[in-house]
Amino acid sequence: MSERWTPDSWRKKPVLQVPEYPDAKALADVEAQLATFPPLVFAGEARNLKKQLARVAAGEAFLLQGGDCAESFAEHGANNIRDFFRVFLQMAVVLTYAGALPVVKVGRIAGQFAKPRSSPTETRDGVELPSYRGDIINDVAFTPEARIPDPRRQLMAYRQSAATLNLLRAFASGGFANLGSVHQWMLGFVKDSQQSRRYKELADRISDALNFMRACGLNLESHPELRSTDFYTSHEALLLGYEQAFTRVDSTTGDWYATSGHMIWIGDRTRQLDHAHVEYFRGIKNPIGLKCGPSLKPDELIRLIDVLNPDNEPGRLTLINRFGADKVEAHLPQLVRAVQREGRVVVWSCDPMHGNTITSTSGYKTRPFDRVLSEVKAFFNVHAAEGTHAGGVHLEMTGQDVTECLGGARAITDEDLNDRYHTACDPRLNAEQSIDMAFLIAELLKQDRSGKIKPIPAVAGF
Ligand code: TRP
Ligand code: MN
Repeated sequence: MSERWTPDSWRKKPVLQVPEYPDAKALADVEAQLATFPPLVFAGEARNLKKQLARVAAGEAFLLQGGDCAESFAEHGANNIRDFFRVFLQMAVVLTYAGALPVVKVGRIAGQFAKPRSSPTETRDGVELPSYRGDIINDVAFTPEARIPDPRRQLMAYRQSAATLNLLRAFASGGFANLGSVHQWMLGFVKDSQQSRRYKELADRISDALNFMRACGLNLESHPELRSTDFYTSHEALLLGYEQAFTRVDSTTGDWYATSGHMIWIGDRTRQLDHAHVEYFRGIKNPIGLKCGPSLKPDELIRLIDVLNPDNEPGRLTLINRFGADKVEAHLPQLVRAVQREGRVVVWSCDPMHGNTITSTSGYKTRPFDRVLSEVKAFFNVHAAEGTHAGGVHLEMTGQDVTECLGGARAITDEDLNDRYHTACDPRLNAEQSIDMAFLIAELLKQDRSGKIKPIPAVAGF
């Protein structure tokens, strides 16, 4: 690993989950073209995010990361982006208020297009075709033509990411995210739900606080921190050819940055030490994530940290845990202890989605809300017991009123899944379930801060 790093040094390593393009020349042309396009994000922004994540690592902030499992070309509307951002802001405000901690806001958006698959092919009614790998690679339609990887899709993904990011930047700084608008973020379709009442109560308190400050003589307009927010983008950097094209030198420091998003992460299926993804990630200076599933052993994790964060830079590395609700106790404590023993500074974040996917009786891929919540609880429990900071959550969610995950306050049932099951990939929390989740996490954060979480005893044998 001590060999020289270049943006293309990953090409000499074994690579998983990257498709075979039938037309190598067309692929090379697209990559050459992408390399001439403007970057989506700037190195200085990535550094700011890293600083904020360093605060999370120090226990002084909380990370909220979320968005679609996969973005799609078909659903690229302004309303979609606005609805997502609105729910995300609501969640952030709930967590900020309850935890009395700054919330670092990172979307799985403006670049989240490539999907790792457990099987290279998919069979339906005896017909076997290559798997769908995300809109940046092929099409979800179940025909032989649709499933052929097409490099021109990378150009589309770039342009969609740029347009999405443009709108998000406007929302974050152009007035939409003003704390004075906290009531206007109320969801249109949940006028009289339990969450809307809870949310309204909280929004009232925030308005009261702002009015009080105003009465005290504070000019709220002169405080940009009340009028805008910092919102960052992230995605799984799976398609390394695309990522390489957006790997640029920062002229102020001379360092290499991935400019396809502020933060990028390595999936649980592509984190082999001697493989291409780890090689690519070690050379870029962005804050990065590493998905940690049940197969990750503590010594392997330490060796990965050696490679990915050799200088132990706070905020550089977020460990995104995804074990499954019933496996957290068996896996997380030993990872936390190894990291503590070695004195490594990391952000611990909980992805309660990917370890809790089941197939419902009616045949839909779904996630029970209770199982998702119970993974988050187990995560908080372990960190309370180990004396470490439960730093954040990583959710698959949407601002739409879909029916993809079971349960929640409005109790979506197996029969309901058929109504509005829209995801092209994994099931997402819908808008209500997301807000619901934020309130429940806020409760855990509050208990955590007052030291009231009673650690549950460790499972025998671990
Ligand atoms: N700027 C602060 C922050 O981002 C306060 C804030 C402004 C905020 N608008 C917000 C917090 C919307 C949450 C949601 O934390
Ligand atoms: Mn997913």
